[in-house]
Amino acid sequence: MPINPRKLVYIETFGCRMNDHDSARMLAMLEGMGYNKTDAPERSDLIVINTCSIRDKAEHKVYSTLGRFRILKEQRRSLVIAVSGCMAQQLGALIFKRAPFVDVVFGTHNIHKLKALLDERARSGAKTIAVDFNDEAGGNELVRLPDGPDNHKASVAIMRGCDNLCSYCVVPYTRGAETSRPIDDVLREVQALAGRGVKEVMYLGQNVNSYLTGALGFVELLRKTATIAGIERVRFMTSHPKDISPALIGLFGEEPKLCRHLHLPVQSGSNEVLSRMRRAYTREDYLSKVMAIKRLYPDMAITTDIIAGFPGETDADFRDTMELLRTVRFDNIYSFAYSPRPGTSAMSLDGHLPEDLRHTRLRLLQEEQKAISIELNRAMTGAVLEVMVDGIGRDKDMQGRSRCNRLVHFPASNDAPCGATVDIMITDAYANSLRGVVCDGAGMAACVC
Ligand code: SAH
Ligand code: SF4
Ligand code: F3S
Repeated sequence: MPINPRKLVYIETFGCRMNDHDSARMLAMLEGMGYNKTDAPERSDLIVINTCSIRDKAEHKVYSTLGRFRILKEQRRSLVIAVSGCMAQQLGALIFKRAPFVDVVFGTHNIHKLKALLDERARSGAKTIAVDFNDEAGGNELVRLPDGPDNHKASVAIMRGCDNLCSYCVVPYTRGAETSRPIDDVLREVQALAGRGVKEVMYLGQNVNSYLTGALGFVELLRKTATIAGIERVRFMTSHPKDISPALIGLFGEEPKLCRHLHLPVQSGSNEVLSRMRRAYTREDYLSKVMAIKRLYPDMAITTDIIAGFPGETDADFRDTMELLRTVRFDNIYSFAYSPRPGTSAMSLDGHLPEDLRHTRLRLLQEEQKAISIELNRAMTGAVLEVMVDGIGRDKDMQGRSRCNRLVHFPASNDAPCGATVDIMITDAYANSLRGVVCDGAGMAACVC
């Protein structure tokens, strides 16, 4: 028996990559406080549920998870349960009302207070809460690299919050106003990560291309990142169509480390719907930018987000979205049925559609896209992709990502350790992945991305 055993923390994370990133920060802090991570909540001393409130489904998942942990708490009173993230930010003390067994609630701007909140809870035994928006002190520390083999990749938050106030979206209320992290601070973090063996960096933000001073600030950041020794690939998400600048588009042609993948949420193909969503671009603006990018870089993968069944969406509006899908031929889409979110302005719009119609439209979008994704992936057969190895996937195959962010499976090879890049010739294509074999290049088609 160790004399002073470390305590165990179990963290469950919902939502987006920003939330994953926040959980990684919490874990780094908790490790400094004497905790080890566990995958077994029943053995843990502390459970942190890092929540998401983007759609009601995300919230329901959190409540059913809380239900699971209530039983653990009933069995072991010493277990501390903390709720963080976007639901915590929005609901605050209401969480204690709905789940009285929760001990600590902290919001998206209060991660740095975690130690103080836990200490106070241990000292007084009372519930503790911090959900104010503040200029978070110490929010930029180097995050813990992920466990497991794929720690050759790291996410770096370059900004937080969002000022766009799209009418359907809770993020401006859960993450606060848009603020960019100073460029030197970001670059120092990337340099430190590169020093620890990271080869691929993913810049995160709700609206990365409005980083700092608009488009130029972001382009400058990407250029400087590309000069950091050891960094081989640079990615970013999410971009807002209104802020895609000619300089950013041009950079894809100048900077080989910049991966040829752009996630550019369109949300709808109808101008009426886009206007009610407050997206600040038209279908024509979007199409002209995307088609110009595709003309310049035929190998660029373009993915998007779409909301089906926004209030007032007519059959004709929906047809516009389906047609946009066929025109752009996205590599993939992330599509969602509109979910009314308390506090957002879309709640008070006329014409809310019945749930079954929203879901029928969602299914139609997904079927259409699946056919397009398979076609585009099949066109990759015979091509050679440069794949960065992430490790063992399903069926004991290896897997990795191409520069255009396609998931590629291939037979395990000793010559392909995690983080290495290997040329894979594509032999089979599916809707969401490709399969291929390691090739030595002789007699093969040139790398397409
Ligand atoms: N900042 C990013 C992503 C925000 S959240 C952007 O602006 O694109 C990720 C996606 O969730 C959004 O792009 C949108 O498609 C979807 N989403 C957000 N709020 C939603 C809601 N109320 N109902 C359904 N989908 C929603
Ligand atoms: Fe939400 Fe719009 Fe901001 Fe994206 S840009 S986070 S959809 S408000
Ligand atoms: Fe969800 Fe918050 Fe991210 S609402 S999608 S966890 S910013």
